[in-house]
Amino acid sequence: MPLDHYRSIAPLYDRVVSPLLQPVRRDIAAYIRFKGYRRVIDVCCGTGDQLRLLDAPGMELCGIDNSLAMLEQAQKSSSETISYHLLDSEQATFAPGTFDCAIVSFSLHEKHPTAALAVYANSRRMVRPGGSLILADFSRPSATPGGILYGRIAIPLVERLAGRDHYAGYRLWMKHGALEGFLDSRQVASDIICQPFGRSVLCCAVAVTAGGLSLSNSLALLSHALNPANPPANG
Ligand SMILES: C[S@@+](CC[C@H](N)C(=O)[O-])C[C@H]1O[C@@H](n2cnc3c(N)ncnc32)[C@H](O)[C@@H]1O
Repeated sequence: MPLDHYRSIAPLYDRVVSPLLQPVRRDIAAYIRFKGYRRVIDVCCGTGDQLRLLDAPGMELCGIDNSLAMLEQAQKSSSETISYHLLDSEQATFAPGTFDCAIVSFSLHEKHPTAALAVYANSRRMVRPGGSLILADFSRPSATPGGILYGRIAIPLVERLAGRDHYAGYRLWMKHGALEGFLDSRQVASDIICQPFGRSVLCCAVAVTAGGLSLSNSLALLSHALNPANPPANG
């Protein structure tokens, strides 16, 4: 496993960051309940705050993360019914179609585009046909007062404080059109679940169809990420 970049923030995360993300987490939980999904994986789950909101009888909840420090916090605050695994989300870990739903929240923007694509492709692969991949991340801020406050001031400031590599990833993410740009280049349709903070955050559900990502689509995704002149994949 690589260096644990979240070691220093892990003990503070649920006191400082998670409370700000509650509106998104609540809407994700409501969407999952509405759809009747039971087997749910949170990819890059951090401290497990989203999974705890879903914890209820009959749910099968699983979180994966590559930060031991974040997972220790998750285990400390969660019931034993939620299983946590120290795993790299860029690698295929569970069999295709294992889950009704996968969530990737606030974890793509900090990554190099090829790494973000690998997490996306792997998360999508783990969802059964008819299930959903829920993505929540920074979006193109609106020109409203809320969009300017959050999208142009508060979020960039927090991202800058998160460290040089993290901030470089965020800048690339925004330069490439944020979550909307990411979805456009995948050519996938998605339902918007919520778009809070002056539309500086977008949370949406991508429907996973039969067949999921074929090998040729996965390769096309990677080749497009390495060279945007190459055609994007469908998926
Ligand atoms: C900003 S936090 C978001 C945590 C959580 N999803 C949330 O909404 O609060 C990003 C998380 O992604 C994890 N992460 C980053 N790269 C990862 C990878 N390749 N495999 C697994 N976890 C990863 C980090 O350890 C961290 O816990």
